[in-house]
Amino acid sequence: MKIAVTSASGKLGASIVSHLIKEIGKENVIGIARTPERAEHLGIEIRRGDYNNVQDFDLALNGIDAVLLVSGMDDPQKRIQQHRNVINAAKKNGVTKIVYTSIVGDENKNAFSPIVQSNRQTEEDIKSSGLAWVIGRNGIYIEPDLEYLETYLKEGEIRNCAGKGKCTYTSREELGFAYTKMLVEEKHNGKTYNLVGEPITQSQLADYINQVFKTNLVYNSVTFDAYLEERTSELGEFMGTVIAGIYEGIKNGANDVPSDFEKATGRLHKSALELVREF
Ligand SMILES: NC(=O)c1ccc[n+]([C@@H]2O[C@H](COP(=O)([O-])OP(=O)(O)OC[C@H]3O[C@@H](n4cnc5c(N)ncnc54)[C@H](OP(=O)(O)O)[C@@H]3O)[C@@H](O)[C@H]2O)c1
Repeated sequence: MKIAVTSASGKLGASIVSHLIKEIGKENVIGIARTPERAEHLGIEIRRGDYNNVQDFDLALNGIDAVLLVSGMDDPQKRIQQHRNVINAAKKNGVTKIVYTSIVGDENKNAFSPIVQSNRQTEEDIKSSGLAWVIGRNGIYIEPDLEYLETYLKEGEIRNCAGKGKCTYTSREELGFAYTKMLVEEKHNGKTYNLVGEPITQSQLADYINQVFKTNLVYNSVTFDAYLEERTSELGEFMGTVIAGIYEGIKNGANDVPSDFEKATGRLHKSALELVREF
């Protein structure tokens, strides 16, 4: 059985590839990447695949039995067509199964909703593709928060607009493990899983970071408008709105969802404290 993973040059794609290699052997895993050089370190066959390029995927999916489609990073409307390019090429090549990395979130209540909506549209496209399918709705990765630690330390605080909202963080490592099971085990076909850990507040996150890194961070909540202004001035309009929208969603409960991680993997998701320790 040959399994291909798209966006293999990215961090989630790489995690899925390394878990898959352990499960089915490196000769059966094919990485697809827009920038193949960035995926060569994985030590497997790499094929070119830009989501905007239909021909790339017509070639890249030749001889593949199952494909893992990592959601793209573009304007919501563009992503829908990009994902369709992969789904159509999979059909054309006789791929039998598609697994998609979607996202947890509200479809219409916050500034992140346009992205969530585009993921939901791809979920529909996958379900009507005629292929066997499995959909994972990913929780927020914890790693970017921890990579931001130096900034938090400089400022002495974690500051965003999540208030007392709870977020079910996961990690790319946990997701790599789950997607491998979802790809190779047939019992998951036709299922949509929330791939998330335990729900925690930003204050709990600060506590766990303090325990592990021996720091003294506090959590301070600000209004959505103040946070949006701060994020867009640092990250630009698109990413600033995405980030502020994510924390707005957390505040309103969009990320406090029940976990299906055990159904997907046969074991419990690691605790949030364990995720911080492992980082
Ligand atoms: N759950 C979360 O917390 C969270 C957070 C951030 C993002 N996400 C979503 O999860 C996805 C994977 O996350 P990640 O951590 O792996 O991100 P990452 O490390 O930044 O990697 C992004 C990947 O997307 C690829 N890519 C971008 N545009 C592409 C295109 N037109 N065609 C093909 N590949 C393209 C990049 O390829 P190049 O190497 O060529 O640039 C790279 O491999 C993201 O794309 C995004 O949809 C989720």
